[in-house]
Amino acid sequence: MNEFQYRLGELCCEDVPLRKLAVEFGTPLYVYSESHIVGQYQALDKAFRGLDHMICYAMKANSTLAVLRSLARVGAGFDIVSGGELYRVKQAGGDAAKCVFSSVGKTREEIEYALREGIYCFNVESEAELQFLSDVAYRMGRRAPVAVRVNPHVDPDTHHYISTGKEESKFGISIERALKVYREATRLRGVEIRGVQMHIGSQITKTGPYVLAIKKMLPLVEKVQTLAPQTLRSFDIGGGVGIRYKDQTPPTAQQFAAAVKPLLKQASKRGLRILMEPGRFIVGNGGVLVTRVLYVKQTPVKRFVIIDGAMNDLIRPALYESYHEIQPVKAGKRTKAKVDVVGPVCESGDFFAQGRTLPVVEAGEYLAVMSAGAYGFAMASNYNSRGRPAEVLVKGRKYQLVRRRETRQDLVRGELLP
Ligand code: LLP
Repeated sequence: MNEFQYRLGELCCEDVPLRKLAVEFGTPLYVYSESHIVGQYQALDKAFRGLDHMICYAMKANSTLAVLRSLARVGAGFDIVSGGELYRVKQAGGDAAKCVFSSVGKTREEIEYALREGIYCFNVESEAELQFLSDVAYRMGRRAPVAVRVNPHVDPDTHHYISTGKEESKFGISIERALKVYREATRLRGVEIRGVQMHIGSQITKTGPYVLAIKKMLPLVEKVQTLAPQTLRSFDIGGGVGIRYKDQTPPTAQQFAAAVKPLLKQASKRGLRILMEPGRFIVGNGGVLVTRVLYVKQTPVKRFVIIDGAMNDLIRPALYESYHEIQPVKAGKRTKAKVDVVGPVCESGDFFAQGRTLPVVEAGEYLAVMSAGAYGFAMASNYNSRGRPAEVLVKGRKYQLVRRRETRQDLVRGELLP
């Protein structure tokens, strides 16, 4: 995490000490580095130069308006999965014409909204959806641009909750059936074939599964182009490129591009634009969750560091047993101890680390939970009636509060007493 380094004994985000932000805005607090986020987008963009391409940031990873705006400003498109996400794109000043819409359960209202806004493409995940989409669009006097989300049955070698390209997955349409579905699409009045799409999973740390999946997909792409030569415009290779949380060695933008570009050139030569939908790669290592130590509790068998952040703020350790580094905000040589770092929520699953050897910390000091930029705030909830954290965006020496901490009033807003 290059933008999060110790300087003069303090962990900083770019040029701003995290302690300063924690004091000013309170904790738990999400802090993002704009330079990292925009830098990751630009690195990928640069790596794919020479190939007509569009990067649709998978905003489910982090849909905070300020983050979306930073990316929209440098030209990003967006991968959306709901009407709510499209609304956010619009609020942030993003371009609907650069949005692809995935989801196995798009509702009529969402489809109508997306059609009115003129999105680039619907990534269709079932035959039933294709038919429904066609009906809705036809009734509106339009043709919905579609890509079939094809499931190439490739094992991405990641956590099973976030592995999507295998045969048993609920996502997409099997590669064996895909061509039949495209043929059906040519007969429908309310759709127009715009693309072919795949997405095999998330936190993929090798290039092999992409190479394998793309190789499987290319013959299909060619056939679809024969079916719809006038309207087919793109091949979307999905998202999923992993990041380093602990000791993984995921590909850099350059390495990823070097692995897949030679294969994609074929499609590109035939006039197709290459789309991709990275989420975590762009924001994951661009954010941390700053928390304060409330208590240190020694039991006969364990030592607990109890912090003010909890599973409602960052659910990844509880949900995927995922590893996030934890660093004291104040540097310095200290002895180490084996601890569990836990939050105040009433669940044993409310932990950030278990049996981890960390520098000894005291009540009152700040800890940063690293690599929390993706699927952190975006998955936060109000469980235990805890307000969700504030968020700060840093750029160089400048910083700005981009989301206020939720108040007690926020917690009950929208509720009605009978
Ligand atoms: N495109 C599609 C169709 C997706 O389903 C996803 C992620 C992405 C792109 C972006 O994947 P990424 O580049 O961020 O890996 N909450 C989990 C991750 C869930 C991913 C869901 N789909 C986590 O915290 O690890």
